[in-house]
Amino acid sequence: MAEHDRKDDGLPLHTALYLEPTYWNDRFAREDHYEWFKDYTHFRHLILANVKPTDQVLEVGCGNSQMGIEMYKDGITQITRTDLSPVAVKRMEEKSVALAYKGIRHQVADMLDLPFEDETFDVVIEKGTVDVLFVDSGDPWNPSQDVVNRVEKMLKETHRVLTPNGIFISIAFGQPHFRRPFFEAKGLTWTMKWDTFGDSFHYFFYKLRKGTKDDNQGPNVPLPLQEKVTFDLEHEFMDDEDFLRQSSLGDNE
Ligand SMILES: C[S@@+](CC[C@H](N)C(=O)[O-])C[C@H]1O[C@@H](n2cnc3c(N)ncnc32)[C@H](O)[C@@H]1O
Repeated sequence: MAEHDRKDDGLPLHTALYLEPTYWNDRFAREDHYEWFKDYTHFRHLILANVKPTDQVLEVGCGNSQMGIEMYKDGITQITRTDLSPVAVKRMEEKSVALAYKGIRHQVADMLDLPFEDETFDVVIEKGTVDVLFVDSGDPWNPSQDVVNRVEKMLKETHRVLTPNGIFISIAFGQPHFRRPFFEAKGLTWTMKWDTFGDSFHYFFYKLRKGTKDDNQGPNVPLPLQEKVTFDLEHEFMDDEDFLRQSSLGDNE
């Protein structure tokens, strides 16, 4: 990222930069740890309720988050952590070797084109990474074709690498009425369920279990969205860094 693209505090001037690998490489070269949304302690109970120690887990867009390491400490030891940024992957690899977490594998991977065989993982998990695909989405009720294409690709890839009864866990800021048309699109055989966590603002812990719906059911994305929800002012008081706050993701109008 060029200097003129960055504000004094290091955050990007344009949210579209969150889609640029150079932004993330640059950032991870300078930053040791940043936890998007909330740290593991806030949703640990939901992980333990949905992931078994024997599961093969793929984390996409791990960044420099501790989530995979905390899962490992909880006995979920078959984890492959991936990110588009080689800098993040290298740094996380070094960290886990230093901590002797030998079972954790690291790999550079684009979640829109995953370098894994079909039906490889029991669990695919992400935190704040799908949300990145929605930056620059314009009107969240009617996202741009670019957003639709990106999200569709990611979900298709995730669905492909999951075992027949595998689960996709998406820890996200985006609200269910915006996510449903994507998550429940034709061709995807999971149904969307979710829990919430957090204090004044609730984040979403989406659970999509493959093989729970006929793949011909569901809308073609995007749906003409009809349900509207009331605007929640608490959304304005969330995390400090926030492409989400800058983007239209959390807006309900
Ligand atoms: C908002 S950060 C979240 C990082 C981490 N999951 C966390 O909870 O702190 C988004 C991450 O997604 C990664 N990313 C962006 N586009 C990606 C893609 N197409 N495939 C894989 N990772 C991607 C970025 O490099 C960054 O690490």
